[in-house]
Amino acid sequence: MAEDAASSAGPVRQREGLRIVPPHDGHTGLLVGLGADEQARRWGDAVPVRDATAARAWVGVAREAWAGRQRWAPRRWVVEVAQEAAQGATPGTAAPAWRPAGTVEYRPDGHGGAEVGYAVHPDHRGRGVATQALGLALDHAFAEDEVVLARWRAEVGHWASRRVAWRLGFSVPAQVRGLLPGWGQDRAPRDGWWATLHRDDPREPAYPWRQVPVLAEQGGDLRLRPWRADADDTAALMSVDDVARQCVGPLPPGPGEEAVQAWTRGRLESAVLGHSLTWCIADARSDAALGSICLFDLVDPCAHGCAEVGSWLLPAGRGRGAVTRALGLVTRYAVAELGVHRIAARTDERDAASHRALLRAGFRWTVTEPQSRVDERGGERHGTARFALLTEPSAG
Ligand SMILES: CC(C)(COP(=O)(O)OP(=O)(O)OC[C@H]1O[C@@H](n2cnc3c(N)ncnc32)[C@H](O)[C@@H]1OP(=O)(O)O)[C@@H](O)C(=O)NCCC(=O)NCCS
Repeated sequence: MAEDAASSAGPVRQREGLRIVPPHDGHTGLLVGLGADEQARRWGDAVPVRDATAARAWVGVAREAWAGRQRWAPRRWVVEVAQEAAQGATPGTAAPAWRPAGTVEYRPDGHGGAEVGYAVHPDHRGRGVATQALGLALDHAFAEDEVVLARWRAEVGHWASRRVAWRLGFSVPAQVRGLLPGWGQDRAPRDGWWATLHRDDPREPAYPWRQVPVLAEQGGDLRLRPWRADADDTAALMSVDDVARQCVGPLPPGPGEEAVQAWTRGRLESAVLGHSLTWCIADARSDAALGSICLFDLVDPCAHGCAEVGSWLLPAGRGRGAVTRALGLVTRYAVAELGVHRIAARTDERDAASHRALLRAGFRWTVTEPQSRVDERGGERHGTARFALLTEPSAG
């Protein structure tokens, strides 16, 4: 019954090895499984079912919506993935058996807009199921329905869902305070990301999603890696002192755990958007955080070829030449992998330790701008020393 029941109730769309079909009672097991998954309950609003009765009701609503086709009725599908052909059959000859793997839907507002929702069973995650299924649903929305604009929302920090939307061309999300309802015991509205995709937008990423690569010295005792939101890095970032806070360039986090978490999330967001890359300068053996180095002003480096670098050390990282060596790793990476030909740096004119590190890393002192900084505490004015590293020294 399953196959016929699916295709007679509404549209079926298919791509290699995956299809989306209107839900039917044979999908109850999948829906209950999804409803039991904490992640799907927390992050997804597409399948809020607790038991088989609720699952059947969800199927009923879906089927009625396909039958009635009102402009605002939800368009719901179950995502099925092809299984290996039956045992003993010659590969490629037998019809595939389909296994339910998740759900995808959009909810039209009746005026050309629609909100998308999707959830994939834990057994099928990380294999492109959500991306392919949402792609098929969007094909239907834009080509067969009257949808002009799709809207996507997710809780801030839900990177897996954001990546699905990113691959399909959704815009850079806006972060909206309290966009989503509270979760569990916590009644406070949750902050959310909100992005859109227009029918005419290219179905390709609208921003770069840069990764922060691990950079290691050959045989050295330093390793540059992304900052993590875990307990060790959070504790290290809470040891930032006034010396680090006086740096010129990308600032360390403010005091307190909340400020540290917001800072770590901000570094990730900035890398994803392609604006900057921030590394934790870590001890190669213990992996303990010693400081931070950031390559910024990276937007469109291929067109301009210029970037800026800034760094600061935690108390535990001082006195071992860490900045000089981190500068070497980052500048080599910027030149070789990002096509940067000029890297600038700024320091307080009195910061002799940073000057030495920059000069040792091959930078030249280009100019001092007198009285360009005001000390927040005393109100005194100080100069900024500017440095530059050019990949072709003769270029001047
Ligand atoms: C979000 C969800 C639908 C993703 O399903 P999926 O089938 O695993 O998604 P895909 O494999 O198509 O894509 C996920 C991508 O996110 C990446 N990803 C996963 N976790 C990540 C993380 N913590 N940080 C960054 N990227 C992450 C995966 O590597 C994959 O990237 P790729 O396209 O480069 O391979 C699934 O985790 C889920 O059902 N969660 C619960 C319900 C839910 O959150 N729904 C969305 C509500 S907005």
